[in-house]
Order: sequence, then C-alpha cells, then structure tokens
Amino acid sequence: MLEPVEEMKKKAGEKAVEYIEDGMTLGLGSGSTVYWTIKKIGNLVQQGMNVKGIPTSLRTQRWAKEFGIPLTNFSDVELLDVTIDGADEFTSQLDLLKGGGGSLVREKMVAEASSKVIIVVDKAKKVETLGKRPVPVEVIPFGWERTAKKIRRIHGIPQLRKISESDIFISDNGNYIFDCEFNSITNPEYLHKQLKSMCGVVETGLFINMADIILIGEEAHVSHIR
Ligand code: 5RP
Repeated sequence: MLEPVEEMKKKAGEKAVEYIEDGMTLGLGSGSTVYWTIKKIGNLVQQGMNVKGIPTSLRTQRWAKEFGIPLTNFSDVELLDVTIDGADEFTSQLDLLKGGGGSLVREKMVAEASSKVIIVVDKAKKVETLGKRPVPVEVIPFGWERTAKKIRRIHGIPQLRKISESDIFISDNGNYIFDCEFNSITNPEYLHKQLKSMCGVVETGLFINMADIILIGEEAHVSHIR
C-alpha cells in the first residue's frame, strides 16, 4: 500500500508511457516520479517494444539497466523523440524548478535535445510563482566560495548542498550544488540569465519554456496542462 503522495506520483509517472511509440529514442529523467515511468517502460520492452533511452543520472541509468531498457548516448543520437522527467515546482505557464535530486545539468541537456518534454508530478508541486523552494545551482568546486559571493550580490542566499554535516554533495558531473533562496522570483528567465553569466556556474534548476506537457497526479485521476 503506497502513501497518498506516492500513489499520485505513480499515476502521473505511468500515464506518461502513453506518449511513447515503438522505435522512439527517449530521454529518461530522474527522481521518484519518473521511477514509475521507467519501470513501466521496462514492462513494455519485455513485451517487445523497441525503444532506447539516454538516462539523466547514474541512478536512472541503474534503474534502466535493472528494467532491461536499452541505453544509448549522444554519440549515436542527435534528437530525442520524447523526454519524461519530474519537477520540484511547476506553474500554469509550464515553468519548472528542478534539481532537487541534483541531476539538473544532464536533465536540461536531455530536455534541450528533445522534440517533446513531458513532466510528471504530483499535485503538491504546483506553485503560483517559482521559488517556494531554493533554486538549485550547479557550480564547479574550484572557487566555490567566490561563486557564492557573486550569488549573494544578486540577493540570493546560497547554501552548499551536503549529504551529512561534514560531507558535501557531489553531482554526477563532479560538481557542487548551491540551494539558493531568493526572496521572490518575479522573472525566472532573467534570474537564470544572471546566474548563468557568472563564471563558475554550470547550470541552474530554472527550466523556462522547456516543458510541452505536465501530467499531474491527483487522488483519483491524472490532469494535464500544455
Ligand atoms: C532531479 C529532479 C527531479 O526530477 C525532481 O527533483 C523531482 O523528483 P521527485 O519526482 O522525486 O519528486 O529534478 O534533479
């Protein structure tokens, strides 16, 4: 028996496979909602569907292998047909905050290379404006203290992500992540540009104009916005 929120994630995650067709190359997102998508794709592969995927994290890569989904990479693929990924916040304009799991760089690269981006969430992720949660920003470890100062200069409060009191979280790309609080994000696109212009910043968790459809798991059904 799943917790109610997990049930909503499962509903949304599984619904997304309806957009997958035989022969497609897929972007495989990261997180606990997409887990259900990946599991279901594994079932389809077992039943004979021919798809392959590019994973956005090492965790997703492990799941894909476990469920028997053939993997590929950007040496062999130029354009992905569909990417299915999760999000930490979404708005009715389809803007997203991502990176809660620390996979934002690969997630954005894969989304950018996709014809269609489908986001799967539970209904609690809906916000009026992005920024209820801190904005994840991936930075290179060299000079991280200096990068933090630059973020403070634009009124952000960067918190170095840690896995324990003494251990810093390291992304799959070998980088650090700052979780940055901003008072209110009135213009997420501008904030993203400001952050990206800082030497030392690799990518931000602000995904603007990237999602095509958001599938929202609710108690009894899955709603969508596009
Ligand atoms: C990881 C992500 C995830 O997609 C996001 O954190 C949502 O995760 P979950 O489905 O577990 O709530 O952006 O970097």
